[in-house]
Amino acid sequence: MRIFLDTANIDEIRQAAKLGVVSGVTTNPSLVAKEKRADMKAVIREISSIVDGPISAEVLSLEPQAMIREAREVSSWSPNVVVKIPMSASGLEAISILSKEGIRTNLTLCFSLNQAILGAIAGATYVSAFVGRLDDAGHDGMQLVAEIVEVFDHYKERLKTQVVVASIRHPLHVVAAAKAGAHIATVPYNVLMQMVKHPLTDIGISRFAEDWQRISKA
Ligand code: E4P
Repeated sequence: MRIFLDTANIDEIRQAAKLGVVSGVTTNPSLVAKEKRADMKAVIREISSIVDGPISAEVLSLEPQAMIREAREVSSWSPNVVVKIPMSASGLEAISILSKEGIRTNLTLCFSLNQAILGAIAGATYVSAFVGRLDDAGHDGMQLVAEIVEVFDHYKERLKTQVVVASIRHPLHVVAAAKAGAHIATVPYNVLMQMVKHPLTDIGISRFAEDWQRISKA
């Protein structure tokens, strides 16, 4: 499983990139707005200069032709760009045309197996299952991921779409994503840092240092 970082915060991306475990970044309009930056192109280009991997940038248009025009423009910002397209009939129409043009897409706001199947058939490079928002609504987000992985696996010779586990809220979501066989987990920076930590590791490091100090002073 690959790990993407789910943020538009440049400092977080710089810090996380140093760990050597992040192979892509996902953004959305809310994440960019949170950084109080209105120039999406500048943000995406800056991220692409830090992480050399798939960088998801989302279109805001809602009509198919406008989505396609915007997606072509967004994909010209950097060779790393993957265009995020929200799930809808318009989105599927746009994905089916963009995929034929070789433009990589990430079907976003995917909340059902049917939506994921349609996205894959339309030619999406990635489908993003929003597990946290499903959990928040009283559903089992990881159950959806397991089902998408299982179904895509039946057709892996024909459908090359990768499953992204998005809307991750805590480290257990990442563990479950890996166990389910998802291709990618896109994680907020705080969750990545929680994954690094374990209290027994901290205790172990302190104990090694104390023991060594004792013997080296003896
Ligand atoms: C990533 O692709 C999504 O935009 C993101 O994970 C959404 O997360 P949220 O549900 O915490 O807003």
